[in-house]
Amino acid sequence: MAKGTFIVKTLKHLLEKNRQWADAIRRQQPDFFEQLSRQQNPDYLWIGCSDSRVPANQIVGVAPGEIFVHRNIANAVVHTDLNCLSVIQYAVEVLGIRHIIVCGHYGCGGIRAAMENHQHGLIDNWLLHIKDTQRFHAAELEPLDAEKRFGRLCELNVIEQVKNVAHSTIVQNAWNRQRTVNVHGWIYDLGNGLISDLGCGVSNQEELQALDADSTVKPG
Ligand code: CO
Repeated sequence: MAKGTFIVKTLKHLLEKNRQWADAIRRQQPDFFEQLSRQQNPDYLWIGCSDSRVPANQIVGVAPGEIFVHRNIANAVVHTDLNCLSVIQYAVEVLGIRHIIVCGHYGCGGIRAAMENHQHGLIDNWLLHIKDTQRFHAAELEPLDAEKRFGRLCELNVIEQVKNVAHSTIVQNAWNRQRTVNVHGWIYDLGNGLISDLGCGVSNQEELQALDADSTVKPG
């Protein structure tokens, strides 16, 4: 038997868990999958970190079908990232989603790596976007002790990504057409499982201009 086949077989436990999960849902609602397979109609787009400890649906307690999800390391929204932009465009223009949530988290390994001065490989190029945020906010960050600086950069990164989402042509065009699109900035605490709203949400150009001009936004 090929070695590869053996490795695949060792994941049987995940397939077994999948069957148990689907059975449990069908017991509660026999037509759940049949209904959901016809179409998706989510109310929210979630842009979060790839971190295994921050699974979108689970931490806000919603079922499959309710959140459209994009995750990458350190929940970055980069204006040349066709992957992320395509997700935002499809969410806003095709699915008609009105709420985009950027959710970062304290203790983010991507943010920590960006703060370090040694190389981690290809990922360092992705993390340059976080290093930019660190540089923009150096005056606020530098006086803080290492732990507070780390936490604050996790927050500031979310705020910058909210701006990046709102400045995208997709959200700008939606707003210009009088469409409702609200962009929210949240942060998740791995230590207690709770999400805080960073108070940097924007729903129109005026709010975005005010956020651009205000570097003092903090959790409410
Ligand atoms: Co992270």
